[in-house]
Amino acid sequence: MDKVPDDIKSYMMEAYQLASRWSLPNNRGDHTNSKSIPLKSVAVIGGGTMGRGIAMAFCMAEFETILVELNDQAVENCKKELEITYAREKSFKRLNDSKIEKLRKNLQITTDFHRLQNCDLIVEAVFEEMKLKKELFTKLDGICKKSCIFGTNTSSLDLDEMSSVLQNPTKVVGIHFFNPANLIKMVEVIYGSHTSSEAVATAFEACRAIKKLPILVGNCPAFVFNRLLGVYLNQSQKLMYEYGYLPHQVDKIVTNFGFLMGPLTVADMNGLDVMEKLKKENGWPASDFEKEVWKQKRYGRKTNRGYYKYDKITHKKENDMEMEQMVREYSSRAHPSIQILNDQDAINFLLYPMMNEGLLCIEEGIIDHESLIDIMFILGFGWPVATGGPMNFGRQQGIEKVANTLIFWSSLEPENRIYQVAQTLRKVDKKHFSSKL
Ligand SMILES: NC(=O)c1ccc[n+]([C@@H]2O[C@H](COP(=O)([O-])OP(=O)(O)OC[C@H]3O[C@@H](n4cnc5c(N)ncnc54)[C@H](O)[C@@H]3O)[C@@H](O)[C@H]2O)c1
Repeated sequence: MDKVPDDIKSYMMEAYQLASRWSLPNNRGDHTNSKSIPLKSVAVIGGGTMGRGIAMAFCMAEFETILVELNDQAVENCKKELEITYAREKSFKRLNDSKIEKLRKNLQITTDFHRLQNCDLIVEAVFEEMKLKKELFTKLDGICKKSCIFGTNTSSLDLDEMSSVLQNPTKVVGIHFFNPANLIKMVEVIYGSHTSSEAVATAFEACRAIKKLPILVGNCPAFVFNRLLGVYLNQSQKLMYEYGYLPHQVDKIVTNFGFLMGPLTVADMNGLDVMEKLKKENGWPASDFEKEVWKQKRYGRKTNRGYYKYDKITHKKENDMEMEQMVREYSSRAHPSIQILNDQDAINFLLYPMMNEGLLCIEEGIIDHESLIDIMFILGFGWPVATGGPMNFGRQQGIEKVANTLIFWSSLEPENRIYQVAQTLRKVDKKHFSSKL
């Protein structure tokens, strides 16, 4: 953190401390009076993008780790993908031969659910479908020991509904890893109405053991990180289909601002099908442009085309003329209400609504402090540290400016949920104007 300004450094240190002093509402328990169950054996269900990374993280931290897949074909695929990851990690010098050998030997991949009988913690990472996750928990309830804590890596689904199928719903806790889960240091720990403080303490302990920073958040659709991320991705798509920015132009503006990757490269990397499932499962609106992208099965890197196209052999990213034509067609029919004249306007268009969404999360009691949101984006999303995260960026810009802008945008698009202005901003705006009278 050498080049990080001192004030941001102390802001981040404060966030670390705040994160460790977690407490559940209504005196349901906190970090001082809640104990983790002893953790020795961990299982991950689902060996897809996330499950593989989560299992690697546990296995590298010397936990007995079992990864359960659907069938033999899925097990083979999982092993193949793990080998690709090992090779990539080796090329970046993050893994050496002996560590890879250890992973090959110790990470047990199976289809046999009965091997989970003695597990202390299970993290499910199957598809983002409520029905499937409920069926899985019902099955696990009949197999696992009573003390086993059930973690879910869901990106968006209601923990209360998911845990309702269990004899003891207090054992369910959200443990939401970020992609790639073996590398990213950030985890959202989510509590539902019934989650016990023991389950939260266990999730915190597990995260610390694998050297990740857990942050406690409440249960709401998409939780905190994905709520803000969803707003950012929606706005970045809008830059294309309303304003005619091409994917590489949107990404360039954002990397010039300091991000390691632009939003559309990130979307392609994470898989556009993830957002499709998220939106469909939660009944959230999608633009016609986005629906067309899904219809064409442009799911990003995994299908070799998304907002960009990818060489089938080298996987190299290239601009996609067909996508660019689609952007031109949609934007030529659009009548945007908000004016964007330059790159700074485009950045504000992307980032101000994120601050607004963060304030809404705080007002709804989903998360306690702005700095916790900021550290989530710094550690979890490669947010340029010098600007201190989405909330701090808004404050650096001037909260009155953000408030005025959002209120103006909401007057132009009153039906747009993204511009439903947080009370905190409305109050700032009133104070600002009354002090000028
Ligand atoms: N991809 C991301 O960026 C990301 C980030 C955070 C959280 N998540 C969440 O993690 C979960 C998994 O997402 P993913 O992207 O890894 O999905 P994925 O499609 O890559 O993998 C899901 C895996 O689950 C397996 N599976 C399905 N049903 C199963 C069952 N009954 N038993 C055992 N295995 C089963 C499938 O065979 C598949 O390999 C979802 O809830 C998703 O919302 C995803």
